[in-house]
Formats: sequence, C-alpha cells, structure tokens
Amino acid sequence: MVSSMNSRPAHDTERRPLIAASMLGADHGRLYEAAVAARDAGVDFLHIDVMDGRFVPNIAFGPGVVRSLNDVGVPMIVHLMVDEPERHVSSFVDAGAAYVTFHLEATRHPHRLLQETRRLGARAGLAINPGTPVDAVTELLSAVDLLLIMTVNPGFGGQKFIRSVLPKIRRAAELLATANPQAFLEVDGGISAETVADAVAAGSTVLAAGSSLFSSGDVAAAVDTLRSRCAGERG
Ligand code: DX5
Ligand code: ZN
Repeated sequence: MVSSMNSRPAHDTERRPLIAASMLGADHGRLYEAAVAARDAGVDFLHIDVMDGRFVPNIAFGPGVVRSLNDVGVPMIVHLMVDEPERHVSSFVDAGAAYVTFHLEATRHPHRLLQETRRLGARAGLAINPGTPVDAVTELLSAVDLLLIMTVNPGFGGQKFIRSVLPKIRRAAELLATANPQAFLEVDGGISAETVADAVAAGSTVLAAGSSLFSSGDVAAAVDTLRSRCAGERG
C-alpha cells in the first residue's frame, strides 16, 4: 500500500524535538541532493510543501516530488496548502508520504478527512494558520497524529516568525497532553537559531525549518545549531 510505511519512526518521546527539513528552502534544481544532505545531517523528517496558487498565492511541489524523494529514506511530512485537500490526499499517500497534513481552513469536513487519511494508510496531520484559534480544533485532536501550528502565514519560505503565536503553541501543547499525548506538535515558519528555543519551550515537538537549514550551504552545521539552541528547553 504505502511504500514508506515501514520506515516511519515510532512516535519518539525520548529525543524531542525532532527536525523536519522543509525542502521548499532547498535549491529546487538539486532537491534530491539536498534531501540526502539533510538525511546525512540527521534530520528526522523531510517536510514537503504543496501549494496550489489558490489557498496560498504560491505554487509548489506535487506527488512526483514525494515519489522521487522516497528512496532518500527519511519519512516525509506532506504539508498541503491547497483548497479542497480531500481531492489530493490519496495521491500523496500513494506517492509515499508518511504524514499528510491539510489545513483546517481549506476543507468543510476535517474530521472525515482525518479518518480518510488514516484509512488510506498514512498518518493524519491538521494545520492551522496564525489567525485560527487552536480551540477550533479541540474536537479533532483525538483524530490527529500531528497538529501543525503555522508560525508564519503560509505560502513562502524565509518569512519572519510571528511571536504572537507562542501562547497558541502553549495552549495546543496543553490540549494535546490531555486529548492525545502521542500526537506531534509541529511548528512551521521562521524557525531559526533565534526562534527555536522559544518554539520548543512553548511545547512544539517537531520543528519544520527551511531557509535556516539550507541557506547557509552547510545543513549539518545548521541542524547542530538548531539542536544546541533548544537543548534543555524540553526533556
Ligand atoms: C511556508 C511553508 C514552510 C516554509 C518554511 O508556507 O509551509 O514549510 O518552507 O520556510 P522557513 O523555514 O524559511 O520559514
Ligand atoms: Zn510547510
């Protein structure tokens, strides 16, 4: 069914936080090499941004990219920034995504789609924009494997971390601790040496990072920097 099924890590509570390399920040002409470099630098996931030019202004990556990056051997979190994600989840599951994450704001029946994502064989992720309150997802938390809190408005890499989202990350961590402690809490946007400690202290367990990993040309050093800056923020 899903080729990456066996390569998915168990939910890991020992080594938090985990790092997801957001491939949007890599050289798109050398995506495979960038993914291998990220793997060799020890990242835990590849984060693959999918944009439709409607839900967000930009356009990015389709299932073919996911399929091509499968044999890098790092589980992929697909982040769908598309309207009507129900039309697209299955093709990303078929392409090998370990997690398929869609936006609450983009669909009318999020609970149904979370169930459907799991039924298709992937883990189910739910994302919310900076302007969406976390209380809007309370009733959905038991059905998610990953909650993604956007720390920028989605659509582009290299934006500034929105600090006013921090209390929402804290609130999300509290809600998940009760409703679904196994689920990951991912943050995405503006994660860098300057912001990572606050994101982790607020309770995030997966850090998506694009430009901070890939812009320096030394992914391994950038991963080490992120890890060292948040050491001690969480057990
Ligand atoms: C933005 C994307 C992010 C983006 C993050 O809409 O969802 O995953 O790649 O890029 P940085 O880390 O540069 O903010
Ligand atoms: Zn993303």
